[in-house]
Amino acid sequence: MMKFARYSLAVSFSPIGSNVFAKSFRFPVVGCIYRGNLESSRLFSASCWREQLNGKNGVVAKQYLPPWFSVAPMMDWTDNHYRTLARLISKHSWLYTEMIAAETIVHQKDNLDRFLAYSPDQHPIVLQIGGSNIENLAKATELANAYCYDEINLNCGCPSPRVAGHGCFGVSLMLDPKFVAEAMSAIAANTNVPVSVKCRIGVDDHDSYDELCDFIYNVSSFSPTKHFIIHSRKALLNGISPAENRSIPPLKYEYFYGLLRDFPDLTFTINGGIASIVEVNAAREAGAHGVMIGRAAYNNPWHILGHVDTAIYGVPSSGLTRRQVLKKYQVYGDSVLGKYGHKPTVRDIVKPLLNLFHSAPGNGLWKRKADAAFRSCTTIESFFEETLVAIPDSVLDSPAAEPPPGRGDLFADIDSLLPPPYETREEEIVLCA
Ligand SMILES: Cc1cc2nc3c(=O)[nH]c(=O)nc-3n(C[C@H](O)[C@H](O)[C@H](O)COP(=O)(O)O)c2cc1C
Repeated sequence: MMKFARYSLAVSFSPIGSNVFAKSFRFPVVGCIYRGNLESSRLFSASCWREQLNGKNGVVAKQYLPPWFSVAPMMDWTDNHYRTLARLISKHSWLYTEMIAAETIVHQKDNLDRFLAYSPDQHPIVLQIGGSNIENLAKATELANAYCYDEINLNCGCPSPRVAGHGCFGVSLMLDPKFVAEAMSAIAANTNVPVSVKCRIGVDDHDSYDELCDFIYNVSSFSPTKHFIIHSRKALLNGISPAENRSIPPLKYEYFYGLLRDFPDLTFTINGGIASIVEVNAAREAGAHGVMIGRAAYNNPWHILGHVDTAIYGVPSSGLTRRQVLKKYQVYGDSVLGKYGHKPTVRDIVKPLLNLFHSAPGNGLWKRKADAAFRSCTTIESFFEETLVAIPDSVLDSPAAEPPPGRGDLFADIDSLLPPPYETREEEIVLCA
């Protein structure tokens, strides 16, 4: 029987009113009884969940729009709180979890809700796992099945010394495609949903286009992996920090488009340095099957995610204003506050909201008020009461405006930059296989 965190239900289906918001004149009053709604949403959600379980074999994923746009996995950032906010703003973005180590899942198997539970609203959602022990990767995948993720992704791109330096984990795995193929086969054997790999375009001096192709060729030929997310810069394993590894090695989008040309049967999602909706559409027009955004979607969620449904998927958005988003988020936040002893704190829950008013009037004052409110407020409701006075009603009550400008010509010259076509090199494959 599926276990299911109570907090994950509140946001999904509860049109819960908040007297505090009504009193604060910040949100319109919606009269509902909190606990009654929570209980009815629990029943509804539990049956939804059973339906999902019965409809295995990837059916879950098929009811969603394709992964044309996804939010990147980001440790400490794309947690349940951020994903709750993201889903309130965009109904159709694919959301990735932070990387969860296979060992954590295996060792915490009696405590899995804490790591794996999420609201059904967060579908389509991909679980990213990390690890270098095939048995643990297989076991972790099997344990995660109960949570009905839409895809399982293996991290082959993280350069953190905490990860990469210890036993061929993260981006180090790119140096061992045979292992990755075995790992992906083991993962796929333990789940009914699709599997994917997120990787870089190279590691240290192993940065030629042919070496990247050898990796893709081996992993896709010797495992069921057909979807690759390509962070289009290499990783440097020695000497620079993870943050520098996301900016110092140059982006080489031509490698990504080379893969599209040379592996027409595979699916590729481009990632790295894409920072606007205009650029997402430019990448797709140039042929990318999917586009993944990380930092820009975190640092400016309203202006990125607020346009995904309309400008990328061509369907109506939720139409929520930021006031309405915050109202729903408050219900979620107060229902999860302190769920695990003193965690999550008000600060943990509010963290993803701190960029919601990026470049809007009142943003600076809101952040200063937030700093003070973290010290005094014990609920999300009281946090909003203290701080939202800083934001003008015109900001709180407006739907997302036009998408901000971006580099529409980012991929204009890509054809002239493509590397020479890949030719399968038998000796490489023998070495790797
Ligand atoms: C704070 C932070 C944490 C990250 N954690 C992960 C992770 O857990 N797994 C992963 O594959 N990539 C991780 N990344 C990399 C992103 O998924 C993405 O590949 C990278 O930021 C480039 O995309 P962007 O330029 O759109 O941000 C992280 C990035 C950031 C900024």
